[in-house]
Amino acid sequence: TIEAVIFDLDGVITDTAEYHYIAWKQLGQELGIPFDKEFNEQLKGISRMQSLERILQLGGQDQSYSQAEKADFARRKNEHYVSLLDSLTPEHTYPGIRELLLELRSAGIPAVIASASKNAPQILRALGLESLFQYVVHPDSVAHGKPAPDLFLRGAVEVGAEASRCIGIEDAQAGIQAIKAAGMIAIGIGEENVLKPAGADVVMKDTGGVNLSFLEETLQAFGC
Ligand code: G6P
Ligand code: MG
Repeated sequence: TIEAVIFDLDGVITDTAEYHYIAWKQLGQELGIPFDKEFNEQLKGISRMQSLERILQLGGQDQSYSQAEKADFARRKNEHYVSLLDSLTPEHTYPGIRELLLELRSAGIPAVIASASKNAPQILRALGLESLFQYVVHPDSVAHGKPAPDLFLRGAVEVGAEASRCIGIEDAQAGIQAIKAAGMIAIGIGEENVLKPAGADVVMKDTGGVNLSFLEETLQAFGC
């Protein structure tokens, strides 16, 4: 049986991965570093400052700014991003997610958030989902971000679950790698050609079909 389901947030619970993309793209344009969705895949799942470093590297500008300037860029991106969050309502929850969380609650299976985002609590509040998660891992509480397993392992420990009996759900390559490094079953949400190479056990186009019986079948098929 499943002991916990550990969810990424952005791009799994709601479409905030798109908001991150919009806000980074805007900053990139201001710095003269244009990039596309394919490059953006690398930014998913990693921290704010790491994302900025990747963008500056792409533009060959990683040595061009002081720490204070970089902090200011990250602050500007976050202000833009947070302004986009203003429009979030419970209707922006991805298909099937609330229903799945209710099924998990009825079955007594803990649901956990393992996101790199410092904005996670605000987003869960805006979606009206806070009470459906047993635990939200704080990104600053672990030594290493994704693709390291720390966030997922912490989530499992906090709810007393055995890693091999946990299912992780992710839309990012770094996130899928983190789940597999933690020894958990990985369900990818997105493109097969993006997430399979990262190690996803199963990839779904969207969250619509991800219900409890699907998760149980997946554990049966890929668990040990
Ligand atoms: C998630 C997203 C990333 C984002 C990171 C930090 O991992 O996938 O795109 O950069 O969180 O988010 P924050 O809201 O703290 O800037
Ligand atoms: Mg994500």
